[in-house]
Amino acid sequence: MFALTMWVMLLTLDDYVPKYRDRVPYPGLVIRPNALDMSFNKSDPLKYAKYVQHLETFLRSYNDTEQEKNEDCPRGEYFMQDDTEDMTKKACRFKRGFLSLCSGLSDTNFGYSEGKPCILLKMNRIIGLKPRGDPYINCTVKRDTPIQMQYFPSEGRIDKMYFPYYGKKAHESYVQPLVAVKLLLTKEDYNKELPVECRVEGTDLRNNDERDKFLGRVTFRIKVVE
Ligand SMILES: *[C@@H]1O[C@H](CO)[C@@H](O)[C@H](O)[C@H]1NC(C)=O
Ligand SMILES: *[C@@H]1O[C@H](CO)[C@@H](O)[C@H](O)[C@H]1NC(C)=O
Ligand SMILES: *[C@@H]1O[C@H](CO)[C@@H](O)[C@H](O)[C@H]1NC(C)=O
Repeated sequence: MFALTMWVMLLTLDDYVPKYRDRVPYPGLVIRPNALDMSFNKSDPLKYAKYVQHLETFLRSYNDTEQEKNEDCPRGEYFMQDDTEDMTKKACRFKRGFLSLCSGLSDTNFGYSEGKPCILLKMNRIIGLKPRGDPYINCTVKRDTPIQMQYFPSEGRIDKMYFPYYGKKAHESYVQPLVAVKLLLTKEDYNKELPVECRVEGTDLRNNDERDKFLGRVTFRIKVVE
């Protein structure tokens, strides 16, 4: 009976209200395409089609036409909506166009056909999270000679306007901010498995937890052949 009562209580606990927490947990960092071990032949479209398709599908909700419905929020400030009467929270716009060369708009192959692939990064959604400082993504290749990279939006910035998140039901049109990194590989980098590590920096979010390798960071491998 007690269990049933609890269950009913949990059900009635409004989905609109984020559950009470002592401390907001830290987010994990994830990549798209969702593959920690990527390898493809840049001269063979069949070998990278799955990555390109995955990115294309993933970015649908970021379509400019979709995002026109969202708010054009002021930059550099949290978008607080705690005291609005309205149960439904507004969401800030993130158009795929913000990802420029990695948006799939100008280059529909996301760089895979030229051997300079784009990888998208996003933090997991956490209700109520408000990262301090100016978070940005920094990726490095773990080897002696560095690899040139381009970030979109510039400097891999994650704007504060996309925080806090109010939960699935209240914040229905919310989309996570993305950062794209384009690995500017050259011929010398082909045929090698390159370990890439990306971290969230410039903020109070954890990115070096020994027990959880995905907290604020992610490591993946990529190998390009021609
Ligand atoms: C990559 O694909 C091209 C075109 O299909 C082919 O000629 C080449 O041998 C492939 N390279 C490797 C390492 O499989
Ligand atoms: C997003 O835009 C692309 C290209 O403009 C289009 O092919 C696709 O159908 C759109 N998807 C949605 C969900 O609007
Ligand atoms: C990115 O990370 C590397 C390796 O940890 C570090 O040397 C570099 O200064 C960082 N760059 C920025 C802009 O944080």
